[in-house]
This record gives sequence, structure tokens and C-alpha cells, in this order.
Amino acid sequence: MLRAIRGEKVERTPVWLMRQAGRILPEYRAVRNSVSGFIELAKTPELAAEVTIQPVDLLGVDAAIIFSDILVIPEAMGLPYEMVEKRGPWFPNTIRSSSDLKKLRVADPNEELGYVLEAIQITKKALNGRVPIIGFAGAPWTIFAYMVEGSGSKTFSKSRAALYLDPDFSHKLLEMITKSTIKYLKAQITAGANLVQLFDSWAGILPPTQYAEFSLKYIEEICNAITEVPVTVFAKGAYFAREALGKMNCDTIGLDWNMSISESRNLIGPDKALQGNMDPAALYGTEKSILSSVDEMMKEFKGCKHVANLGHGVYPDIDPEKVKLFIEAVKSFK
Ligand code: CP3
Repeated sequence: MLRAIRGEKVERTPVWLMRQAGRILPEYRAVRNSVSGFIELAKTPELAAEVTIQPVDLLGVDAAIIFSDILVIPEAMGLPYEMVEKRGPWFPNTIRSSSDLKKLRVADPNEELGYVLEAIQITKKALNGRVPIIGFAGAPWTIFAYMVEGSGSKTFSKSRAALYLDPDFSHKLLEMITKSTIKYLKAQITAGANLVQLFDSWAGILPPTQYAEFSLKYIEEICNAITEVPVTVFAKGAYFAREALGKMNCDTIGLDWNMSISESRNLIGPDKALQGNMDPAALYGTEKSILSSVDEMMKEFKGCKHVANLGHGVYPDIDPEKVKLFIEAVKSFK
């Protein structure tokens, strides 16, 4: 995967899945059921390392993504979250105005996120160089969206309202998140992450001008600060920002499944590796249809730096056998 990103010779296209740890594997459920819930699992480094490695052994992916969540950053800044079964993340408190910023601090990863760093160290030792470790964080806009909204949302209307009502507050909060994220990613790299990915899951809900002002600006700050390892930027739904992402100081751009591969390549240019982008729903298909979807994707990416993946995280109710088929089909593509 690292050679593919650098544009060096590779025997075949590397492949991994966003959200591969947890969600689909019964082996994950077994570990998860041995503790009180997601947060305890994420905060127990030995177990977090175990479920990080599961997809490498059970699915045959070419990278391990550390088992944690993007929402550990708000918590480390002073805004704790809960994971509500079947409903997702929930914040008892939210940040809505400049006066709320007094409740927050720039995160000190060694102080507050030692459990993630320790999980990376244990994973690194156990993997012994078999596959690279992906560190990650949410992009500042996506983290902002959760901190202001207080939960997931279809529209994130409170978060988007803040950008219009109080741009000054919005920039202050985004700046604090950015500083925290840079420190956090650097700490993950020191602990052993071989590359890092920024997830801008809610990129697609902003208009292009706001996206440039409230998201890309901060992604750029992070990309410029992380010089140690390759950086992947996955901005879901940001088809309008592909040209700008192509100019970013990063190595790989993630594409979602709505983005045409050839059009993206033209907009982004030849230098960046592209990651993606099969429709996650294609894995509900038959064996035959999955093989044909993989074939279609691989042919379109041919001739450029490519890391195979889905266009977003694997859906929780996908049959692990279908995931294995996807991975095997990528690996055997000629
Ligand atoms: O394989 C991996 O990618 C593991 C690490 C990981 C998790 N979350 C574990 C998790 C990563 C990289 C994430 C990223 C994440 N978390 C994103 C960005 C990627 C995306 O999907 O767009 C976002 C938006 C979140 C926030 C979040 N965390 C939500 C909305 C939910 C609830 C629904 C769900 O399952 O996705 C979570 C919980 C969560 N994060 C789980 C896992 C394994 C499920 C917890 C459980 O075991 O019940």
C-alpha cells in the first residue's frame, strides 16, 4: 500500500475497507460483548489492538486501521460523548457560542488519548510489519458538526446555522479542533502509524464557497503540518472540491461512489493516488454482480496510483463472505 501511494512498482493493487474493524465481523461482536460497550473497548488497548488485527487475519486486507473513533477528539478537548446502542454518538453538552469555548481546551494526546497510542504500539508489535497501520482523525468540519449538533443528524442544521450566525465563533472552534488534530495525528505517527487518513464525512452538506472557508482551509493546515507519513483525505460528497484537493499537500484522495473515476482523475491530476470507490451497496449483490462491479472499478482505475476500497464505510449488515470476495477479486485482478 505504501509503495502504491508513492507510485513505486507493485505486484497488485492494495485493498482495505473503511470501517473494516467492527461492524461486520462476528469475532468483533464477541470481543465487544465481553465489555460494557464501544467506549470501554476503545479504551482498553489490548482489546482495541485485537479487533484492529481481526480484519487483517480474517479478511486478508492490506492495512490495519486502528480501532477508535473520530469523536475521541471532542472528548479530549473537554466534550465527552456516549455511544447509544443502535442510535450512534450523543453528546450530553454541546458547543454553540463563543462563551461555550471556555469549556474547551486544545487536546493533549499524550495526556488524554494515551489509550489510542498504546493500542497502536501493541498493534505494531503484534503485526510485526505484516501490513501498515492507518492512523486517523475526523476533518475539523466534521468534528465541528458533531460538537455543535450534539449527535448525528440528517441535515446538521444547527452546525450549518452556526457558520451563518457566528462565523467568528465557528473559525475559533475549527482552529482549536485543527490544533488538537495535528497534535493527535503526530502522536499516532510517533506511536507507529505508517499513514494517516482524515475523514470529512459531512463534506457534502456544505456549499462550495463555505466548504473552502470552513473545511478546506483547515484540512490544508493539517496536510501542511503532517510531513512524516503519507496523508489521505477522504471528503465524502465533496465532488465540487476535487480540483482543490488535487492541489493539497497530501498523497491520496479518497473518492466516494458518486464520483466518476475518470472525471476525478482529470480534476485531481496524475500525482495523487486515488482511493476507492465501489458502491458499498454493491456488496449486497450476488457473487456474479460483485465480481463484475470489482472488474468495472479496477478497469477504470487502471494506469494510475490506486488503493482499492469502497466509496464509504462497509455497511454493518453486509455478509463477511461477500467482503472476502471483494478483497480476493481485487487481489487477483490482472
Ligand atoms: O475499521 C474502522 O474504521 C474502525 C475505526 C473507526 C470507527 N469509527 C469505529 C466505530 C473509524 C475510522 C470510525 C470513523 C467514524 N466515526 C466516522 C468517519 C467515517 C464515516 O463512516 O463517515 C464517523 C462519522 C464516526 C462517528 C460514529 N461512530 C457514528 C456515526 C457511529 C454510530 C454508527 C456506526 O456504527 O457507524 C459510530 C460508532 C462506531 N465507531 C462503531 C465502530 C466500530 C460501532 C460501535 C459499536 O460497536 O456499537
